[in-house]
Amino acid sequence: MCGIIGYVGNRDVVPVLIGGLKKLEYRGYDSAGIAVVNAKGVDVVRAEGKLINLESKLGEMQLHGNFGMGHTRWATHGKPNENNAHPHRDCTGQVVVIHNGIIENFLPLKQKLQAAGHEFKTETDTEVVAHLIEEKMNSGTKFVEAVKSAIKELEGHYALVIINGAEPGTIVAAKHGPPLVIGIGEDENIVASDVAPLLEYTRNIIYLEDGEFAVLDQKKVEIFDGEDKLVTREPKRILWDAVMAEKEGYRHYMLKEIHEQARAVRDTFTGRMFEESGQVFFNDLQFTSEEWSKFRRVHIVACGTSWHAALVGKFLLEEAARIPIEVDYGSEYRYRNPIVDEHTLVIGVTQSGETADTIAGMQEAKRKGAALVTICNVIGSAATRMSDGVIYTNAGPEIGVASTKAFTTQLTAFYLFSLYVRQLRGESRDDIRFAMHEMLVIPHKIEDLLLKQEKHIEELAHRFYKSQDFLFLGRGVHYPIALEGALKLKEISYIHAEGYPAGEMKHGPIALIDENMPVVAIATHTPVYEKVVSNLQEVKARDGKLIVICDEGDEAMKKLADEVIEVPWTVEPLQPILTVIPTQLLAYYIALRRGADIDQPRNLAKSVTVE
Ligand code: AGP
Repeated sequence: MCGIIGYVGNRDVVPVLIGGLKKLEYRGYDSAGIAVVNAKGVDVVRAEGKLINLESKLGEMQLHGNFGMGHTRWATHGKPNENNAHPHRDCTGQVVVIHNGIIENFLPLKQKLQAAGHEFKTETDTEVVAHLIEEKMNSGTKFVEAVKSAIKELEGHYALVIINGAEPGTIVAAKHGPPLVIGIGEDENIVASDVAPLLEYTRNIIYLEDGEFAVLDQKKVEIFDGEDKLVTREPKRILWDAVMAEKEGYRHYMLKEIHEQARAVRDTFTGRMFEESGQVFFNDLQFTSEEWSKFRRVHIVACGTSWHAALVGKFLLEEAARIPIEVDYGSEYRYRNPIVDEHTLVIGVTQSGETADTIAGMQEAKRKGAALVTICNVIGSAATRMSDGVIYTNAGPEIGVASTKAFTTQLTAFYLFSLYVRQLRGESRDDIRFAMHEMLVIPHKIEDLLLKQEKHIEELAHRFYKSQDFLFLGRGVHYPIALEGALKLKEISYIHAEGYPAGEMKHGPIALIDENMPVVAIATHTPVYEKVVSNLQEVKARDGKLIVICDEGDEAMKKLADEVIEVPWTVEPLQPILTVIPTQLLAYYIALRRGADIDQPRNLAKSVTVE
């Protein structure tokens, strides 16, 4: 995710842009930049790292104007450095673009524009937009029309704000996926990624819809649909305060991030899975079939929630690669003198890319000659810099300490990687294409699940929030989800909870079962479904309170369980992406009921950079 803001009006624009970017910094903060248009022309100032670096750069300049735009970056294509920081420009320097999202077809567009003589200066997908608009203006098309025409050639997701130094006072904004909102002021108008930066100037907000674009100047805002027809839309009156606005109206970042998972999963597979050709492609990770065939074993190293994702990854990769795959806690791995050589692939899984235990394990593996791959959410983080290849989970910044969207995008990354391995091992494109199709519809199933089940789960939380202990049970690919559900509950509600393989319960934990022990079980249709049913009957026989996450319409389970939470059907390898969501919501609403500090639970840190 990135933060975008554009302003036209009477105010000194630099403080407006910087103030707005501060309120958007939670959306991304690996680099930032602004563009200001004044009598002298277009000034673009960018800086690597946090916004404070851009501010100190601007402090030394006398940059003024009342028209411009700004951007905080969460890199997806191209390292987080000053050169790749937005805004990006065309060859003339007059057409200036800022962007949030992923332009899937930027490579073919870039090649075509380079062949036409355009010189590119960055590694980003965004720069293509500036040159595409320039190319159209070179053939006589006016700026706004050139923008409309260029947008029609883009594939993927984008929120774009574009200005032209030769036409000061006009901002064009386009939305297809990531959010864009417009603030209607008195003799000023402002566009941004969300409401937070607008509230200082106006509470009259228009939300752009997908496929729409807007043309703003100081006096008016016009909105057009995909057929270029003028759209009339009454502004909404927003009563949030600025802090609520950063959470887009959600009470906590954690709940907002739970609801971002459909978008986050989609952003993780977009531009990497091509259904027509049945091919998987990674920007930052390439193996040849021959290189892959040299690996005899895989070790996956991670901590906490990422370790649970690694356990799911083991299932997916072992099925695809048919070589032994071991999963280790980072804090254990390097002290067990692991058997590692040049035929070992080690995968580090880490949202932050800075977890000391995971990095230490990866360093030990590298020292012993292993090839290193990282699944990570932060471009340029320590884990990514030491790796031979990286699969980025494009979840956007995860602010809540309890990891949610990072987890489901890690599962998505593992699924993509398993398809990639199947491709390297020569599996038929048709089989891989079938597996892709189910992933493509997962975002819709996430949204459907949230819509249908959230209220019910909140009610369940109100019934069970006083419980002192919980047991989470799952088998096979859902055993890691039982562990994850228990961790989520523990870390934000401070209730003791344990996750166990369902088949293991009779070897001890069953002694805990009584009418005061809620048991949360995952029992979707997998080859071991009947076994799980037997385990759940053992729980019922001891008066345990049974909450079961099952397939929609599982009438038998509705009879057996005290409560069911139904999830949409999907193929077994993708079920964990759906079955984890009820456990996230249950933990959230129980913690909410208990008045816990959900986004910053006691004793925890978002990134544990000490051993
Ligand atoms: C999970 O909710 C916790 N925040 C914690 O277990 C976390 O997953 C762990 O510290 C690993 O962090 P990383 O993914 O950034 O390496």
